[in-house]
Amino acid sequence: MRTIAELETAARERLEPAHYDFFAGAAGDEVTLQANEEAFRRRCLVPRVLRGGGKRDLAVEIAGSPLSMPVLVAPTAFHRLAHPDGERATAGATAAAGTVMVVSMASTTAVEDIADAARAVAPDPALWFQLYLQPDPEFTEHVVRRAERAGVRALVVTVDSPVYGRRERDHRNEFHDLPPGLIVENLRDGEGRVRDIEMSAELSWEHLGRLRERTKLPLLLKGVLHPEDARLAVGAGVDGLVVSNHGGRQLDTAVAALDALPALAEAVGGVLPLVLDGGVRRGTDVVKALALGADAVGIGRPVLWGLAAAGREGVAEVLDRLREEVDHALALCGAKSPAELTADLVR
Ligand SMILES: Cc1cc2nc3c(=O)[nH]c(=O)nc-3n(C[C@H](O)[C@H](O)[C@H](O)COP(=O)(O)O)c2cc1C
Repeated sequence: MRTIAELETAARERLEPAHYDFFAGAAGDEVTLQANEEAFRRRCLVPRVLRGGGKRDLAVEIAGSPLSMPVLVAPTAFHRLAHPDGERATAGATAAAGTVMVVSMASTTAVEDIADAARAVAPDPALWFQLYLQPDPEFTEHVVRRAERAGVRALVVTVDSPVYGRRERDHRNEFHDLPPGLIVENLRDGEGRVRDIEMSAELSWEHLGRLRERTKLPLLLKGVLHPEDARLAVGAGVDGLVVSNHGGRQLDTAVAALDALPALAEAVGGVLPLVLDGGVRRGTDVVKALALGADAVGIGRPVLWGLAAAGREGVAEVLDRLREEVDHALALCGAKSPAELTADLVR
């Protein structure tokens, strides 16, 4: 089983350079991209000893979905750029691993087909759907109904993108459009036309309230970094937060996700589950995030590296590897479950 860094090397060898850059790159000088990983390296673990406990149990539950380990697949666009089997491969490997895949609104496979691929592996897979609220509320509702009919169990509303981030690698490579033959299937409207995703700086808590009224699915907000926004989210009837700076792809020099986490955990006071994403590459990273207040972590690029390196098998390798590393790190910290990870284990 390869490390995530080794899988990135394998992926880079296989991908067209502009596609590798699309996946690897981030906004501006990529300060936040680097800060996400550095925030994990800067912290050390202070393990406990002689605590008994025996075998570990990694399972957690977030917003009503069971996860076999505290690691889920964050939403990322365009999996068919990474591998011809695209999102179907990711869904199969994730369902087999018994954890959540958050389907990107910008997936290159229709949400219905992704759900079929997951169901071929597990009878009741946990798929969540990531949504950018669209300025046309009827179109947003059309996309939500499709996701509901496909059987998704939660909606993850990405709120850190009132405008697109400046991804300078993509500008340099002139990478603006999907190659012929690939489309963003979830954006087909009632007339069969495929729309573009529109980012909108008009969006406010009112738009979220409108969505809250129109769906019974749990709602998570993705891209929250300021504690005041976390407090507002508690009042807005959401069911969870994703502490994330979009893998550094939106606002460059935004705070590292792990550095933002403790203040957010304090602001929500255990009322809402917190998922952290950004820079998670090792089991010890997962342990640090959980100790500092996350209930689970999301992984973005690692899944793309596995997918590009070896399709479904590669995604399975990433998930198996992280499961093994988390289990090992828990044992060495003297904890037998995620619930036993407390802030005193991190310095
Ligand atoms: C290539 C790529 C595409 C992404 N597409 C989306 C997306 O469509 N929607 C979304 O909410 N986040 C998207 N993200 C952000 C991820 O959900 C996640 O926040 C980020 O990748 C976590 O950081 P990591 O890559 O260091 O694990 C994307 C990230 C990458 C790298």
